[in-house]
Amino acid sequence: MSASSQPLLAVEAIEVSIQSMPALRGFSLAVQPGEMVGLIGRNGAGKTTFMRSAMGHLTPSAGTIRFDGVDLAGVARHGRAALGIGYMPEDRGLVPQLTVEENILLPVWVSKRLKAKERLDFVYGLMPEVAEMRGRKALLLSGGQQKLVALGRALAAGTRMLLLDEPFEGVAPALSQRLAEVIFALKGERLAVVISQSDLNHSRRLFEHEYVIERGANVGGTRRGVEASEAPSHPLP
Ligand SMILES: Nc1ncnc2c1ncn2[C@@H]1O[C@H](COP(=O)(O)OP(=O)(O)O)[C@@H](O)[C@H]1O
Ligand SMILES: [Mg+2]
Repeated sequence: MSASSQPLLAVEAIEVSIQSMPALRGFSLAVQPGEMVGLIGRNGAGKTTFMRSAMGHLTPSAGTIRFDGVDLAGVARHGRAALGIGYMPEDRGLVPQLTVEENILLPVWVSKRLKAKERLDFVYGLMPEVAEMRGRKALLLSGGQQKLVALGRALAAGTRMLLLDEPFEGVAPALSQRLAEVIFALKGERLAVVISQSDLNHSRRLFEHEYVIERGANVGGTRRGVEASEAPSHPLP
């Protein structure tokens, strides 16, 4: 159904307010199938607001969010995982009393399309260290381990697109490197990925394109190719 020229995710001029304060002001972004895109902006710029809007946790008062041509305004929150969108929230958002495996399977259970065994094999294949802690309750994990599990949960649901909200934020360098490695390994999977980062810790080498956001609005109006930008040789996080 989706022509290759049509973006998988097309966000057009969305307006989102939080407690009647505008947080996104005409923000737009497009992601092609299989593309890895950075969303760069300092704290408070609106990155999380964008991700929460795409996932249906916040509702734009204007503008549209389309996924594979479908207007998401008509798709309930739990229906987004069923479309093949995986989300790694900034705060990880694991259910403390559930095991690692149960947390990973949460979005799979709400989707009739996904097969638990298949998704677990995929996640554990990419992250054997997560397989090793599958039976432990999330509340017993360190912050860094929770970050890996949250990525695993996003991978379980995200057969077509991943939204990763500051995945490298607040983690030790070794783990940061590991997360980047796992994300980089997805390049061959025809998976669209949006990764938000604050401009301070910013790993451009992962991205084909990046969008800069400032006070809820696009900076420069359009996306730019990372290859063409002035600082291409940043090390991984
Ligand atoms: N729970 C909240 N209550 C009040 N204001 C909020 C809340 N969450 C976000 N905001 C405001 O919305 C704007 C965008 O925040 P956010 O999307 O979290 O930015 P980022 O993720 O880029 O750091 C900021 O001005 C922030 O203060
Ligand atoms: Mg944020």
